[in-house]
Amino acid sequence: MKEAMQRLREASIQAILESDSPDSLENLRVKYLGKKGELTAILRQMGKLSAEERPAMGQLANQLRGDIEASIEKRRAELNEAMLAKKLEREALDVTMPGEKPQLGHKHPMYNVLDQIKEIFIGMGFEIVDGPEVELADYNFTKLNIDEGHPSREWTDTFYFTEDSRILLRTQTSPMQIHAMEAKELPIRMIAPGRVYRKDEVDATHSPMFHQIEGMVIDKGVTMSDLKATLNLVVEKIYGKGTVTRFRPHHFPFTEPSCEMDIQCHKCGGKGCPTCKGEGWIEVLGAGMVHPKVLAGCGIDPDVYSGWAFGMGLERLAMGEYKITDLRLIFENDVRFLEQF
Ligand code: DAH
Repeated sequence: MKEAMQRLREASIQAILESDSPDSLENLRVKYLGKKGELTAILRQMGKLSAEERPAMGQLANQLRGDIEASIEKRRAELNEAMLAKKLEREALDVTMPGEKPQLGHKHPMYNVLDQIKEIFIGMGFEIVDGPEVELADYNFTKLNIDEGHPSREWTDTFYFTEDSRILLRTQTSPMQIHAMEAKELPIRMIAPGRVYRKDEVDATHSPMFHQIEGMVIDKGVTMSDLKATLNLVVEKIYGKGTVTRFRPHHFPFTEPSCEMDIQCHKCGGKGCPTCKGEGWIEVLGAGMVHPKVLAGCGIDPDVYSGWAFGMGLERLAMGEYKITDLRLIFENDVRFLEQF
């Protein structure tokens, strides 16, 4: 029995030293020390020994178990260390290698124009406000003095969500005038840029989704000359000093009087060219004095307060600025196109 244990000692220690993975070590542990292992098999024969021999053999067997366990642990530690060293070597980082340049996106040209406009208005003390694109017909139309039956309320023009024509995708940013008047303390100076939606077929100058910027001032003693002076200043900042504007009478239900503002073509100086389609003038926005009915509907006394408002198309402005001739290019978001600006 003593010899059997000696043979087991030599064989096991050798095998443990030669094992090359945690899995094979575990197999060895089961092979030698497991319930059906070799040491257990030897111990089973203890019964054949005399009472005097048994304690010494038992001690020897315990010692052998302890030694095999210790050499397994030692080998396990060695293997772990070797594995860690290999892993570190594999993951070594050469900080002197040139990096890969990340592909950065590009600011959209239209947002360049929008940022420029925001900055101009912020400089004049205006606040930038944001509002819902899913809107109530009440805000998009009724409170703006656009009554039932007005052609812009037709199902052929407007995206409605509900059969009763109550909820829709806003067709203009003008409902932001109402939101501002209902929610804000007076006086108000705000611009509200955002997306608007109309049932238009896509072509070089139309898209069912486009962007507008709404602007509004409400205060005591605000007049049409404030409107003209402010918008002239904005135009000069965008197109340069001395840019000529003209205000043509127009009609909008929510302003009275209403007008459209044109700028003299900055390309040809008014003689007529492809940029202005031979007109000499380019229409940039609709504007007017906020209708007393609209003020009153928002709980503002039109005898005390007055205000002006404007709304302009952002795509058109960007297209003019960057000489983009097809509106679709603005929305296709082809990086090769956007990168040019
Ligand atoms: N909302 C108008 C449109 O989409 C534009 C407009 C005209 C806005 C006059 C205004 C305004 O604020 O005063 O055609």
